[in-house]
Amino acid sequence: MSTPHIEAAPGDIAPSVLLPGDPLRARFLAHELLEAPRQVNARRNMLGFSGRWQGLPVTIMGGGMGIPSTAIYVTELVRSYGVRQIVRVGTCGGIGAVELGEVLLAQSASSDSRFNRLQFGGHDLAPCADFGLLRAAVEAAPAGAVAARVAHVFSTDCFYDGDPQLLQHLHRHHISGIEMEAAGLYGLAMREGFRALAILTVSDHLERDAHMPADEREQGLVRVARLALECVRRVVTT
Ligand code: HPA
Repeated sequence: MSTPHIEAAPGDIAPSVLLPGDPLRARFLAHELLEAPRQVNARRNMLGFSGRWQGLPVTIMGGGMGIPSTAIYVTELVRSYGVRQIVRVGTCGGIGAVELGEVLLAQSASSDSRFNRLQFGGHDLAPCADFGLLRAAVEAAPAGAVAARVAHVFSTDCFYDGDPQLLQHLHRHHISGIEMEAAGLYGLAMREGFRALAILTVSDHLERDAHMPADEREQGLVRVARLALECVRRVVTT
């Protein structure tokens, strides 16, 4: 069995998945963090690797950029491979009183995407994180020396030239991060009944024109991925 976008054999994908956007980051994280990582997907170069972290079976796979790409992979992972936990590990633009390098645990994900409305009768869904994963992240972050805060984020479909008022609206609503995937992931989690969380390093500050250097981004990603693995371990072993 395979799916239109994933060639892994049944059983090749673990119930717990870390989902960075970039497939090369998936490869980097898998080799950095997993014992005996094995490549399980290369279709469309969306690399995925399975291995173990402290004995726990884990898959780390790219999900691409934006809600449509993420939703394709997430839907196939959940429906065809029985995935039960997905933690998106990525970056976001910061808004308001957040600092570069800070980690946001996305409690809610508002959006300008119609993705959830398309599947919710045109109504407004409230896409939110799995409470167990979020609580695990809050509890585990200090031990991993990660400065993490629970935050609201916004998933946009427009990286360039969206609503010119958007930053003001986000600021006014105390939304601290902007990225492009969490609202789709959380909406799918609510419909399909799996656990989801997005853990995001603030890589840019949109109101201060500040940007994290590439090497710090990489270190931030490893820290965030370790935190994600610890969250997954806590929810599957309790
Ligand atoms: N916009 C959307 N997604 C992002 C950004 C941004 O500024 N920074 C990191 N991901």
